[in-house]
Amino acid sequence: MTTTDSLLTPTHDWLGLKGKVCVVNGAASGIGASIATALAQVGAHVALLDRNVQGCEMLQETLAHLPGRRLSLTCDISDEAQVKAAAQAVALELGSTDCLINAAGILRSVNLAEIELADWNALLAVNLNGYLLCAREFGRQMRTAGAGSIVHISSIAAHNPQPYSGAYTPSKAAVSALSQQIAVEWGPHGVRSNCVAPGMILTALTAPYYDHPGITEAREAFTATRRIGKPEDIANAVLFLLSERASYVTGSEIEVNGGLSCMLMGKIPRPGFAATPAT
Ligand SMILES: NC(=O)c1ccc[n+]([C@@H]2O[C@H](COP(=O)([O-])OP(=O)(O)OC[C@H]3O[C@@H](n4cnc5c(N)ncnc54)[C@H](O)[C@@H]3O)[C@@H](O)[C@H]2O)c1
Repeated sequence: MTTTDSLLTPTHDWLGLKGKVCVVNGAASGIGASIATALAQVGAHVALLDRNVQGCEMLQETLAHLPGRRLSLTCDISDEAQVKAAAQAVALELGSTDCLINAAGILRSVNLAEIELADWNALLAVNLNGYLLCAREFGRQMRTAGAGSIVHISSIAAHNPQPYSGAYTPSKAAVSALSQQIAVEWGPHGVRSNCVAPGMILTALTAPYYDHPGITEAREAFTATRRIGKPEDIANAVLFLLSERASYVTGSEIEVNGGLSCMLMGKIPRPGFAATPAT
């Protein structure tokens, strides 16, 4: 077998994540569930955290045939005591945390002119404070070990506000800043921190939009790849960032949106030019 052949062998641990202790919050559904699945597929030990622990346990069952150990824990990431308890349980059951993925999130559509402070705070408590709490508690284990990698799920909304996005866009913009702050503060202790910013991904969070006739096609037309993303598209980018293959990548953000963010000029009317050039 040549060197090239061995790199192409599916069992080759190209990512080096086999045996690593990885903690995923928001693991009961959508993007978090897909990341937890992908990590189990490469042989990582995975802690599945969510306020919906039944969802984690169901996923754990479907992953039972894969190598590595799994642990499902109830954890509302906005609750400091629950996050601390989860960090202790993971250390006890699986060992010191190597990787953390902040994927839990909520979305509330409201106009800023009418937003109630309680709603603003409730969203930030999960989307921002929860990411900090998990980074702080699981990051402590990484700093002690002198190595670790954190990936936060941000959003295309972080840099592209949409009407009625209310607190969501500010929360995701803050996640980008939080990630860079962590990169700067904990980089000297061997901890990397990066973001993945999804575009339009079909999950339980967004499924109601796609139930409306014509929405899927209209949204697909806004992407360069002409398709709505799958949770696996996000998981693939996350695994790269977690891995040693990205050991010199920190404070960065990967946009995974099928080219949505570079479509703006193509939507500007330009007499004499078709919106999409014939090829
Ligand atoms: N789906 C998209 O199009 C899209 C686009 C950009 C960004 N995102 C982001 O991706 C992440 C995952 O979203 P998704 O689409 O998979 O949604 P989802 O609703 O399918 O999954 C979110 C999970 O987070 C959990 N969760 C919510 N609040 C929690 C809390 N306080 N503590 C613990 N768990 C909690 C939910 O129970 C759920 O299992 C979110 O941060 C979201 O903002 C999604």
